[in-house]
Amino acid sequence: MDKKEDKMDAIVALCKRRGFVFQGSEIYGGLAGTWDYGPFGEALKWNIKEAWYRRFVWGKRNMFKVDAAILMNQKVWQASGHAAGFADPLVECKKCKHRFRADQIEGDAATKKKCPDCGGELGAERKFNMMFETHVGAIQDDSSISYLRPETAQGMFVNFKNILDTQHPRLPFGMAQIGKAFRNEIAPRDFLFRSREFEQMEIEYFVNPKKWEESFEYFRTEMKGFMNDVGLTASKVHELEVPESDRAHYSKRTIDFEYDFPFGKKELYGLAYRGDFDLKQHSDFSKVGLSYYDEETKERFIPHCIEPSFGLDRTVLAILCDAYTEDEMGSVKEEGKEEKKEKRVYLRLHPRVAPYKVAVFPLLRNKPELIKKAEEIFKTIQKEIPMTDYDDNGNIGKRYRRQDEIGTPLCVTVDFETIEKGNGVTVRDRDSGKQERVAEADLLGYLKERIGGVN
Ligand code: GAP
Repeated sequence: MDKKEDKMDAIVALCKRRGFVFQGSEIYGGLAGTWDYGPFGEALKWNIKEAWYRRFVWGKRNMFKVDAAILMNQKVWQASGHAAGFADPLVECKKCKHRFRADQIEGDAATKKKCPDCGGELGAERKFNMMFETHVGAIQDDSSISYLRPETAQGMFVNFKNILDTQHPRLPFGMAQIGKAFRNEIAPRDFLFRSREFEQMEIEYFVNPKKWEESFEYFRTEMKGFMNDVGLTASKVHELEVPESDRAHYSKRTIDFEYDFPFGKKELYGLAYRGDFDLKQHSDFSKVGLSYYDEETKERFIPHCIEPSFGLDRTVLAILCDAYTEDEMGSVKEEGKEEKKEKRVYLRLHPRVAPYKVAVFPLLRNKPELIKKAEEIFKTIQKEIPMTDYDDNGNIGKRYRRQDEIGTPLCVTVDFETIEKGNGVTVRDRDSGKQERVAEADLLGYLKERIGGVN
């Protein structure tokens, strides 16, 4: 794979071919900036969410999960600063009328004044608010305006008091939410990287202002731990201390975690110190007190907030880019024929995120005794490793190729030795292609060990 564009094209093609991701509204020509996840894409996303809950939420007594409404009172966005300031610089071509994000046009000062599509003159730059506006209810006037949320964060800030009143937490504590966010991006691009509808996994972690650095450093380490959990190569992740001039209006400090995508080093996640900006704004706008009383120090104050923010779709993309591999491998050798080397594509997914951990096949599809045994073994494995596939379509070579392309770490094949000699099954390793014979009695333990206990 020589060119970077080729790698992205190959990943997009694999996603469509194997049922990971499809263009949104595809049969109508698509809708720019929207993507639909198929069975394996959905499974991959689900596994990422589970890894996230496992690291940041489950088992933590000071973390509270919420699922807030996407539509919120317009005052939320006035208080948060999004109504006035959540805007990108827009330029429009006077000739072809195409629109661009001014800061994404490449080249020198003269090139930046020309339309990248037709070379026409670009108009003056103006601010374009990225929130999707809608009206709630039957009457469409200014008072019925609402927005599809551009970040999940605000759904947590507006529930801060509800968590205080119902869960009675002590600082530091966090709220966690996974959900959809919407941004009317001027130029959606690079597949799942920049879309108009996407999912975020966010934590708002409330701390005593005197201790914010401790929690910031904690999440800095934990975020790297999470990237390792989902199998991202550590050397492809880079930390960027965002300078004040580039930080969001609410942030006192931000570290971006950037990833080496095939199209360049780009932001994957952000870790921000939001201070007391949000709680203070919502308190001022709503006239509801959002302070915290510390029983030990007898002090009342507005907690400060540390926010680790993860794009779920960007995680999917980074994982796919990291895992996509091409190599040459000997095909399954047919009797009397010479073994040929074939180009092979596979996803080197970490077992934790792989849609299937194991696949079970009968060697041949037209032998009832093989099928019966393979089904029996499949059922036994599936009870303990639910994400196990069974496949008897096509020939064995095709089944291996399919499982390689969807990233299944291990394939179990039932052959004649299994039923005639009771000589166990073969287990094929996705990455090396090597097969090992494993006794039936040892199979479950062997598989569990090989996938590292994830199921
Ligand atoms: N609450 C803070 C916040 O929303 P952000 O940097 O604007 O901060 C957080 O977004 C994360 O959401 C990004 O690091 C990225 O992973 C993801 N994200 C942002 N815009 C996106 C888009 N248009 N498409 C896909 N993911 C996006």
